[in-house]
Amino acid sequence: MITTALLAEARRLCSVAGLSQEVFTDGLLEAAVGRRGKALGLQPEAFLSRLRSDTIEQRKLVEELLVRESWFWRDVRPFEWFSGWLREEGWPARGALRVLSAPCANGEEAYSILLAALHIGVKASAIHVDALDLSLRGLKLARAGRYRSRALRSLPEELRATYFAELPDGTFQLDPRCVSGVRFERANLAETGAVARGAPYDVIFCRNLLIYLDTSTRGRLLAEITASLTPGGALVLGHAEAALVSDLPLTAVPDGSSFAFLRRRATEAQRPLRPVSVTAAGKRLRPSVQSPRPQAEVTGPVAPQGTAASEARALADAGRYREAMEVAESLRLREPGVADHEYLVGLLHSALGDAGAARRAYQRALYLDPSHGPSREQLSLLLDSSGEAERAARLRRRLPNREGAI
Ligand SMILES: C[S@@+](CC[C@H](N)C(=O)[O-])C[C@H]1O[C@@H](n2cnc3c(N)ncnc32)[C@H](O)[C@@H]1O
Repeated sequence: MITTALLAEARRLCSVAGLSQEVFTDGLLEAAVGRRGKALGLQPEAFLSRLRSDTIEQRKLVEELLVRESWFWRDVRPFEWFSGWLREEGWPARGALRVLSAPCANGEEAYSILLAALHIGVKASAIHVDALDLSLRGLKLARAGRYRSRALRSLPEELRATYFAELPDGTFQLDPRCVSGVRFERANLAETGAVARGAPYDVIFCRNLLIYLDTSTRGRLLAEITASLTPGGALVLGHAEAALVSDLPLTAVPDGSSFAFLRRRATEAQRPLRPVSVTAAGKRLRPSVQSPRPQAEVTGPVAPQGTAASEARALADAGRYREAMEVAESLRLREPGVADHEYLVGLLHSALGDAGAARRAYQRALYLDPSHGPSREQLSLLLDSSGEAERAARLRRRLPNREGAI
């Protein structure tokens, strides 16, 4: 049994790490406190006094809550984009390239960055990768550079064969020269200065953390990250996080990617974000989980209102889904942070048979507005159809899981 005082202490520790109360609910906290209390064999009163006086135990409790799910070449396109951008910018022949992976979890993202740069010809001596995370467990695994095959599932075969050796137990060891090419450090990104300490960076990857943070920590961290980029440098976010940068001096990359932004140079005028060409972007996507049948009519009762939204609906009604998507995507970029817009994009992805993209759109909608019923409904249908009945049920009960917004 957890006491109110114990719950309040756990909540305080979460807020020190900037973790959102909406994601880290009382239920999750109670479960984590229960696990630690049981591991120590302490009753609530005794556990509380231990927690208040022992910083190591405080870290262990927070560790229980952290979601370190990550893998090499996660989402694929950010790394394809990064490699292309490095080439376009002529990095192999330029001076030192400084990149930050924050948070880095178990090192998969930081090493993916390094491998991408080495693979296009950047010399090992010319790339410097910093990697930050709160989790000591994650950093320990990162520094070992040894992974199960599952962590390499998205990594291009050529990179796996070049940089990893398979060990007799079936795990994969990263080339020690690559392991020593990344500087891992424990940092609480909710604390001012954690990113700025190593700045400036030419590229910062900050993916799949913002969704776990409370609003003020998120805003402060994004501002610090932007200020830590060299002018013209790139910020790479998670797919569900791109809508969060609207107030910052960043410009979405002009090739239709929805996750990469460039820091404006002082001389660059503030200009509206360009509309995304979904047709062009779609061609680069790897095939994702298929769901060819639309899950709902695009013209459903809660479809967004407004001229552009009406235009998108009319195009969809006429079966012109790709054109509808262009209108919906540009609406979403013009008016970021609107759950209804994300929902419309999700419906159109479903209509176009891209269940993976639809799922991400509904997740973004729910991230923006956790009570957005239509998105919840569509997302749970998608989860059901991909065999994730338990997640679907949890979503219907409106409980977040440990992977974040859903
Ligand atoms: C889902 S992982 C993301 C890893 C990687 N960027 C990716 O996209 O695969 C989230 C990471 O955020 C870290 N984290 C959570 N709160 C943090 C904080 N306040 N400071 C630093 N890292 C934090 C967790 O330890 C976890 O490793």
